[in-house]
Amino acid sequence: MSDLIEGFLGKSVEGKKSKLPAQLDYIQSATGLFLGLFMWVHMFFVSTILISKDFMYDVVQMLEGSMFLKEPQPAITSFAVLVVSAVFIAHGLLAMRKLPINFRQWQSYRTHMGMMNHKDTSLWFIQAATGFVLFFLGSAHLAMMFAKSHEIGPYASADRMYTDIMWPFYLLLLLAVEFHGSIGLYRLCVKWGWFEGANAKETRAKLKKLKWAITVFFLGLGLVTLAAYVKIGYEHRDNAGERYERTSHLELRHDGKVKA
Ligand code: HEM
Repeated sequence: MSDLIEGFLGKSVEGKKSKLPAQLDYIQSATGLFLGLFMWVHMFFVSTILISKDFMYDVVQMLEGSMFLKEPQPAITSFAVLVVSAVFIAHGLLAMRKLPINFRQWQSYRTHMGMMNHKDTSLWFIQAATGFVLFFLGSAHLAMMFAKSHEIGPYASADRMYTDIMWPFYLLLLLAVEFHGSIGLYRLCVKWGWFEGANAKETRAKLKKLKWAITVFFLGLGLVTLAAYVKIGYEHRDNAGERYERTSHLELRHDGKVKA
């Protein structure tokens, strides 16, 4: 009965409102923070190709457990993809609550955004739009990485970009994720008052500068990385499908020995 009353009035019999929306907000922020920080680490891993093919190869092998296991296991990568996907889906579901769902809500939001000319309100729009794009592109990328975890490496990744013509997909994904991620992390700092000094306005201006610096840095790094994979894929086009062999055969094994 009390559930029924709360369902109709939005308040319990004691006149209290549910804490659930605040708790969901908290989980949305926590999952967003996890994904934002994960993306920074992920971009550094992917960009190891800029150092050398051998280095990228070693990092992939290491993430597949080469230091602990006799043979590297791509299933470890698939498992990591499952964990990230769970957080990704939870974050997307929670974020959906905030999207305007009918024309009237959109109209009202657009009018407010236009009238207020408030930069952070406009940033919210970019975040919602890029989030919508990520629903599709991010899910497709995760599904691909889960199913093809054995096809990650200097040649396999580069062949995917060039021969399988996936580079336009990655370009869109990169743009969406970099804008979405840095705006998201900025908004988290503002929302929860992180790094807020004596002067909140001054902090916000500094955070905004930092947000732009982070966007430019990761977008730049991502574009150069993408170009590197496309170049390798182009050079490797006649042998697409062939796997990379390390140029020097020194290998740190699971038993701590160095194998030549
Ligand atoms: C554990 C989960 C993940 C794994 C193992 C993974 C792995 C990879 C790999 C190996 C590449 C290189 C291209 C390729 O081989 O196809 C790549 C590129 C990329 N990934 Fe992921 N990824 C993961 C999660 C994500 C998520 C959640 C996003 C964003 C929603 C994302 C966005 C991107 C972008 C934008 C690129 C292109 C980077 C560039 O070219 O500069 N990844 N990822």
